Amino acid sequence: MHIAFTLLVGALCLATDVLGASLQPQIPSVASVSLSSASGDVFQLSELVRIVVDSKSAAKGSPSLLDFAKVFRNDLNSVTFLKTILPVETSSHNIALPNLPTIFLTIDPKKQFKLFNGKPTDEGYELTTSRNSIVVTASAPIGVWWGTRTIVQQAALAAASGSKKITFPVGKVTDAPGWEVRGFMLDVGRHWFETDFLTELCVYASFFKINEFHLHASDNLWNPDFLYGEGNEGWKNLYAAFRFQPGHGSPISGLVPRKNESWTQNDFRSMQTTCAQHGVTLVPEIDTPGHSLVINQWKPQLMERGAPDHLNLSVPETIPTIKSIWDEFLPWFTSSEVSIGADEYDAKLADDYIGFVNEMSSYIHQKSGKSIRVWGTNEPSTTLSISKNVTIQHWDFPADDIPTRLMDAGYQVINSEQAFLYLDGKTSLDNQFPQELNQDLIWSGAPGGKGWAPNIFSPTDPSNNTNIRNPNLRGSIMALWNDWGNNATTRLEIYYQLSRSLAVFGEKAWSGSEVRDTALTRAQFDAVYPVLNAAAPGQNLNRVVPSRNGVVYNFNLGFNGQTTHVDSVGPPYTMTFSVIPSSRSPSQGLLFSGIDSKLHVANLTFEATGKLYPLGYTLPLGKWTKVAIHATREYTYAVINDDASTKRFWTTTMDLWGSEMAVGNMSFAAPSKTFGGDGFSGSIKDISIVLGA
Ligand SMILES: *[C@@H]1O[C@H](CO)[C@@H](O)[C@H](O)[C@H]1NC(C)=O
Ligand SMILES: *[C@@H]1O[C@H](CO)[C@@H](O)[C@H](O)[C@H]1NC(C)=O
Ligand SMILES: *[C@@H]1O[C@H](CO)[C@@H](O)[C@H](O)[C@H]1NC(C)=O
Ligand SMILES: *[C@@H]1O[C@H](CO)[C@@H](O)[C@H](O)[C@H]1NC(C)=O
Ligand SMILES: *[C@@H]1O[C@H](CO)[C@@H](O)[C@H](O)[C@H]1NC(C)=O
Ligand SMILES: *[C@@H]1O[C@H](CO)[C@@H](O)[C@H](O)[C@H]1NC(C)=O
Ligand SMILES: *[C@@H]1O[C@H](CO)[C@@H](O)[C@H](O)[C@H]1NC(C)=O
Repeated sequence: MHIAFTLLVGALCLATDVLGASLQPQIPSVASVSLSSASGDVFQLSELVRIVVDSKSAAKGSPSLLDFAKVFRNDLNSVTFLKTILPVETSSHNIALPNLPTIFLTIDPKKQFKLFNGKPTDEGYELTTSRNSIVVTASAPIGVWWGTRTIVQQAALAAASGSKKITFPVGKVTDAPGWEVRGFMLDVGRHWFETDFLTELCVYASFFKINEFHLHASDNLWNPDFLYGEGNEGWKNLYAAFRFQPGHGSPISGLVPRKNESWTQNDFRSMQTTCAQHGVTLVPEIDTPGHSLVINQWKPQLMERGAPDHLNLSVPETIPTIKSIWDEFLPWFTSSEVSIGADEYDAKLADDYIGFVNEMSSYIHQKSGKSIRVWGTNEPSTTLSISKNVTIQHWDFPADDIPTRLMDAGYQVINSEQAFLYLDGKTSLDNQFPQELNQDLIWSGAPGGKGWAPNIFSPTDPSNNTNIRNPNLRGSIMALWNDWGNNATTRLEIYYQLSRSLAVFGEKAWSGSEVRDTALTRAQFDAVYPVLNAAAPGQNLNRVVPSRNGVVYNFNLGFNGQTTHVDSVGPPYTMTFSVIPSSRSPSQGLLFSGIDSKLHVANLTFEATGKLYPLGYTLPLGKWTKVAIHATREYTYAVINDDASTKRFWTTTMDLWGSEMAVGNMSFAAPSKTFGGDGFSGSIKDISIVLGA
């Protein structure tokens, strides 16, 4: 029988033995593969494939096995060239027949899968492939879900290999994550993001078996020029935000003055549901008693003197206010854990801080049954200590306690060490953080040269690392901060920093770096990542649109007010048009708009996240001007009337903590949906979008 795996497999065969010979490397790697024989028997996916859910397990869980199966069906369709796959069926047994391939999804609570530390996990699964069927078995729906990711990735790789057949080798795959927590954090406090974008991010991350999306949902810019100094009232105007929108008439509605930059409960719920249906739990963070300018702007009487972004925990109204905030929002959250932030507070107020954390731990547990997490913080107290019920998310040496010591003392720890796992939107002071996770460091830079994994905390000192079997190491969360606020980046620029980072993180957080001989090499990752990034189903963060010979569209006639079917076009692209603004209202209105950006006629100003980025070019009235916009993921520039000397970049300025003003390029998606509008008076013609900058 013909074996359909070609390109990538060829490369792999040289590198490994029979083991990997016909299952393609994927992200993350699977723990173990055993193929029936060298006979080359395969299961072939076709239009006729039936996805069957075991009827006795179908309704189990929330989301249920059936919910997951429906997403799986859509995803399988989207990554292959197969015609529409039949709707999901339920049956009490595997109904595979010859020539009628079946994927059977079932739960067997007796199946046992273990994390590296030996604790049981529901996230493991087994794929048993015969010529007629693939049976996915796990101890809970979430395990089956991850098993379907493995099938979808294999199908995507086969489809991309140019082969006409999509086949799976007969045999067995057994897989489970090494760690329980495999998450990513986004600073959604200092930068506003709509839930549609955040939902796309969690769907994307789930393709790489990432299971948590930590939302840092309240914070403020930090700038000493605004915050400190006798009589300095700058804090009143420094950007601070809280993203959960209180209900009508809520006593805490003053906390969210800018409703247009907050999520309603409905927005949040629907994001939470979609993420959950992709195996991703939203873990919300409301950060207090530091990083709390947004609360002090609402209730200045709670402020710590001299530190407007800190709450004074000794003011009698402070802790009840924080509790009232949690009271309002705890019912929104389906996660079993929430983060109360609790980082970077005054060391001299250690006892107040520790008392507060412990009080919130009991309060939140008593109100909702949820546990809490805090960021690691060095609080030198000789009298009090944080409850062992609180998980500590380590991020820094030496400002927080040493993680190995915390774990030895019995604390549960999550590794978010900044030396490996921090990114900052667009830039960072003194280039402290890379644009995307540092691949050299992740693959080999840690002590021992085996690469980073959740048990690795230090790039320099192995004594700070721990064993993969440590029962108190829960896993890891990578983080992207938005220290420079709304105008530093567009939302898609955030995705560009995360896209590859999430994939490599997914591999290491699931498989680690030292025990599994199936773990990916860097070369395997590099070969397979672009294919999987392009295939990742359920979202379109790359903003790929249909095109013919590289042309998305090309309209010759004059337009004002037309709408196209193209919402937005991701870079690289070249957008060209000619425009003649009329003299009636020369600086009003929009030239183009789309779901990610708008272009105003005045000064050729791009808009994203409600922020304006003028090019500083004024279109002459009463005569046609040709504009060509060239964009990549790194920059956007315009050329006027084909005159290369007019080339000019759209940029932003970022105030790096009051110590430096940095200039950065902006990458905008093409505002391809609507021509003209919003009071534009004049005409636009010869509008084209071509792929490639
Ligand atoms: C904190 O509040 C207490 C009680 O109101 C007050 O005595 C103290 O001076 C305040 N400290 C600061 C630093 O604001
Ligand atoms: C930890 O939580 C449990 C409830 O889950 C509670 O009974 C116990 O008192 C808590 N321990 C501490 C030290 O807070
Ligand atoms: C590692 O731990 C030691 C203390 O055990 C500490 O002195 C050292 O600075 C730590 N830092 C890093 C980055 O490894
Ligand atoms: C165009 O930009 C300049 C500075 O870049 C500004 O002074 C002017 O007000 C802007 N004009 C319009 C119409 O926005
Ligand atoms: C929200 O409204 C404020 C005040 O009108 C405005 O400054 C801001 O740009 C708006 N935000 C967005 C994302 O549109
Ligand atoms: C962006 O915002 C910062 C404040 O965070 C401000 O200092 C800077 O001037 C803004 N830049 C632009 C181009 O609006
Ligand atoms: C913007 O990008 C161009 C092209 O890569 C580069 O030459 C220029 O230095 C960049 N500008 C900034 C402010 O980074």
